[in-house]
Amino acid sequence: MTKPGLAEGVVVVTGAAGGIGLAYAKAFAAQGRRVALCDRAERVATVAEEVGGIAAGLLGVVMDVSDEASVNAGFARIEAELGDVSVLVNNAALFVDLPFTKWRDIDVATWDRVMGVNLRGPFLCARRAVDGMERAGAGRIVNISSTTAHVGGHQRLHYAASKAGVIGFTRALAREVGGLGITVNTVAPGSTQSEGVRARYPAAVLEAAVAARAIPRAAVPEDLVGTVLFLASEAASFVTGQTIVVDGGHVFL
Ligand SMILES: NC(=O)c1ccc[n+]([C@@H]2O[C@H](COP(=O)([O-])OP(=O)(O)OC[C@H]3O[C@@H](n4cnc5c(N)ncnc54)[C@H](O)[C@@H]3O)[C@@H](O)[C@H]2O)c1
Repeated sequence: MTKPGLAEGVVVVTGAAGGIGLAYAKAFAAQGRRVALCDRAERVATVAEEVGGIAAGLLGVVMDVSDEASVNAGFARIEAELGDVSVLVNNAALFVDLPFTKWRDIDVATWDRVMGVNLRGPFLCARRAVDGMERAGAGRIVNISSTTAHVGGHQRLHYAASKAGVIGFTRALAREVGGLGITVNTVAPGSTQSEGVRARYPAAVLEAAVAARAIPRAAVPEDLVGTVLFLASEAASFVTGQTIVVDGGHVFL
């Protein structure tokens, strides 16, 4: 049997019920890809329908990325209804919903919940996605970190630590799966005006982010899409273990 290549495989985007994840999912769909939009939010099924639905190869899957059984069940459904996965975008995170908390006031349960979603989530999804990538003979894993990992996040110690962890996870996994034709990279966005950010962040914070950039304008989810599409493409086949900052020129690695 001919192996489906990278471009024919299914794309999984986690945290795709809205915000930046939905922008990634729409961009892959526009390329004619079959896309599984996964989110713990039940509205993901409706969102997938709005983008085109199963007739267009788009499936909404309710999945809690921090929960092993939920991830395994979600991937089993994706494989049964859409086929083997060749691209995974690990975008789901506790981010907008996470209150700002002084570091000593972060309780252990919240710390563990952040690590569970933001770090265990990418691990569980990658572990399951690699099954299909091995069968396809190629794969791309794109993990979403944050420039918070580089500059520190005010009153978000758990979030910053989890997003720095994503970078180490990327490097270590890249070394283990490179021989299988699978690349693993990180995109680190700067402050980006997703609908959640626009609704919850004070204007002064958003303005300060703009002022700190070489390109002094607000970032929108679509600013991140090109880099994710590139890393998921054949053109990026020799790029792995890397972190690409997409922030209009604030953090220079
Ligand atoms: N917007 C920014 O300024 C910014 C900056 C840097 C990095 N990021 C990162 O980009 C990604 C998307 O950001 P956003 O602004 O759209 O955030 P968001 O908080 O609006 O979206 C996160 C999505 O993940 C989903 N999610 C949360 N927990 C989940 C779980 N356990 N299982 C499955 N889905 C779950 C949420 O329902 C939501 O749809 C996140 O990884 C975030 O950390 C965002």
